[in-house]
Amino acid sequence: MKIKKIAVELQNNPHEYAVEIGHGLLEKSGEWARKCLSRPPKKIAVISNQKVFGLYGDAARDSLAGENFEVHVFLMKDGERYKNFRSLKQVLKFLGETKLTRTDAVVALGGGVVGDLAGFASAIFLRGISFLQIPTTLLAMIDSSVGGKTGVNAEFGKNLIGAFHQPRGVLIDVETLKTLPRRELTAGFCEAVKQAAIADRKLFNQTADFLENYSPNNFKSYFTGEKFISELEDFIHAQVSFKTEIVLQDERESTDRHDGKSRKILNFGHTLAHALEKATDYKHFKHGEAVGYGILFAAELSKSIKIFDDNELKLLDDVLQRVGKLPDTRKVSLEKVFEAFAFDKKNIGESLQWILLEGIGKPKIVEGTNISPTIIHQTLKKFLEK
Ligand SMILES: NC(=O)c1ccc[n+]([C@@H]2O[C@H](COP(=O)([O-])OP(=O)(O)OC[C@H]3O[C@@H](n4cnc5c(N)ncnc54)[C@H](O)[C@@H]3O)[C@@H](O)[C@H]2O)c1
Ligand SMILES: [Zn+2]
Repeated sequence: MKIKKIAVELQNNPHEYAVEIGHGLLEKSGEWARKCLSRPPKKIAVISNQKVFGLYGDAARDSLAGENFEVHVFLMKDGERYKNFRSLKQVLKFLGETKLTRTDAVVALGGGVVGDLAGFASAIFLRGISFLQIPTTLLAMIDSSVGGKTGVNAEFGKNLIGAFHQPRGVLIDVETLKTLPRRELTAGFCEAVKQAAIADRKLFNQTADFLENYSPNNFKSYFTGEKFISELEDFIHAQVSFKTEIVLQDERESTDRHDGKSRKILNFGHTLAHALEKATDYKHFKHGEAVGYGILFAAELSKSIKIFDDNELKLLDDVLQRVGKLPDTRKVSLEKVFEAFAFDKKNIGESLQWILLEGIGKPKIVEGTNISPTIIHQTLKKFLEK
């Protein structure tokens, strides 16, 4: 079995680490953890939730225990609404009571919620301990587990409290996607199309072809084929490579940068996505689903201000048709969405920033003040009614 690897060599970070992609890797997580951690710890705290741990916990725990790590497990509640201070406090208490030391490590086994929370706990427990990621959702594999952003939601907004804390390794076992519910797959593919649209033609076409060949509606059935598994690994490898490339040259998302390689471009589609989520009380859309609408809207807006061509818009629309059904937008209040724009985290000073497109693979950061609110309003009205 061949493992596909991406090296992440960050500036000012003594620990180079790797993202490893393959199948059947969970059973080898003990060896992998030992390899990632230069000074092998005595204890490993696995943070997960009941659902994921029920499916994959034994494989990971047995393998870690087989390498003589003392394994302690904490299961947090499942869902975005538990990515909060309360769960963080519970995890910190658990790490404290387990008496983890600075040479021990945390393993996050789960989706982006588990990864963000466990990562943040590792960033602040004893001022930072080693942390390993085993992402089990498509979104976490291609997006949240890569890049070192960790954090929790606060009463005043999502993801507003956090830290940059790079993992010491990321292990992607694509076979875990076999059990991922259809909507979660769709949400992940939306983020994949986001990355593809701002990357280049090559990733865009690869993503389009993959979705053409393998519908998220029948995903589980493909896992019997070796060709599919290999193509899934290649697809994830290409996506992670792109994200890594962006993160490596702007690790902390410099506020001064506005160029087409700034880490900010990864927020393509997120201005509307965050507003849609907020306007519907975070109940109607999964984050990735809102991003699906967000990228299409950003593209429409790019067309409205005449920097993006209709043919390219059609290409993007075609790919998005393949990700699976997205929740209806017709009942979403236009006014609430408009209001929500004002609270977006990407709001710098008075102005909102939009990540727009001048073409596939050509993102452009545009200050909100440079687009007339009337154009945004009109484009949005048409968009939500579609
Ligand atoms: N740190 C970053 O850079 C970054 C980037 C993007 C998103 N995020 C964050 O990621 C979070 C979203 O992550 P997510 O989409 O993975 O959601 P999630 O972690 O809530 O997982 C989605 C659901 O799938 C379940 N699940 C996970 N793996 C499974 C599997 N293999 N089989 C069956 N069920 C499984 C989970 O229990 C959960 O119910 C958000 O909080 C978002 O803010 C962070
Ligand atoms: Zn996102």
